[in-house]
Amino acid sequence: MDIEGKTAVITGGSAGIGLAIANALADAGIGAIVIGDIDDANGEAAVAGIIDKGAKSVYKHTDVSNADDIRALFDEAVKNFGQVDIVFNNAGIMLGEPAWPEVAIERLGLGVQINLLGVMYGTRVAIDVLSQSGGGLIINTASPAGFGPLPPDPMYAATKAAIINFTLSCATLQASHNIRVNAILPGTTDTAILNKSGDGTTPAAWLKPFIGMLNLLTVEDIAKGAIDVIEDDSRVGEALSIENPAKEGGEAGYIRLRDNTEFHERALGNVVTTAD
Ligand SMILES: NC(=O)c1ccc[n+]([C@@H]2O[C@H](COP(=O)([O-])OP(=O)(O)OC[C@H]3O[C@@H](n4cnc5c(N)ncnc54)[C@H](O)[C@@H]3O)[C@@H](O)[C@H]2O)c1
Repeated sequence: MDIEGKTAVITGGSAGIGLAIANALADAGIGAIVIGDIDDANGEAAVAGIIDKGAKSVYKHTDVSNADDIRALFDEAVKNFGQVDIVFNNAGIMLGEPAWPEVAIERLGLGVQINLLGVMYGTRVAIDVLSQSGGGLIINTASPAGFGPLPPDPMYAATKAAIINFTLSCATLQASHNIRVNAILPGTTDTAILNKSGDGTTPAAWLKPFIGMLNLLTVEDIAKGAIDVIEDDSRVGEALSIENPAKEGGEAGYIRLRDNTEFHERALGNVVTTAD
């Protein structure tokens, strides 16, 4: 898809990876970006930065775990910009402290609601809205933790695994609705999620033993991968893993985790099997 002049909705776009993707889209000539997040101050700052780059932008307070908020986010996008072409279901949290297994039971539910239901709600509403203008693209932010295990945060590993399979299972929307659905799987990336739990800030002592040895990716590395997925129409129902560099200052590696070509052909009934 050509990014120029398009409209994107990005959840969790106030900070971190979502913000970097928004900025990269603005640099690539996108027409408009709608940011949905619970961090209003950073969201408004993100919008100001996008407008500075020459794109239109609005912020809408959106808790992705709330289906009504998701509907209102897309309504806001259509109201302002007429249609939506690209959707990033990107908002997510980790357990934080108190860490697993002492974590409050409610926090497990919140994690599932934000990480998993947020992506499902965003995809469901996006299907209706993208269809109004003939189709589009959905990118869900999963994680290599979806291939796990991630012992300090089983909720995170489980929800990210579910997002991967949800995304792969949405591959046939390309054939039925002209909507391309893919996932990006950022390796460990230098953002606030490594330091905060999502409902406040805490030292990430619980996580350090598991990430301390890694050469972190930058948010720009992830945005580059996201732009690649947008521009490459051959990517359908894929999970693109963006791997941590092997050495400090090294480059991110890209791994296409699934090529669904044969699956698509089967789903479309185009695979001819011969008896001999
Ligand atoms: N940073 C990493 O190492 C890494 C690795 C793999 C995947 N990811 C995923 O990337 C995505 C973005 O994370 P990040 O690293 O940029 O973290 P971040 O904490 O910097 O950004 C997350 C954003 O989501 C927002 N958010 C949190 N709860 C929300 C809710 N209920 N509704 C709407 N917005 C909400 C936050 O306010 C924040 O702006 C997440 O899905 C995360 O799981 C991150």
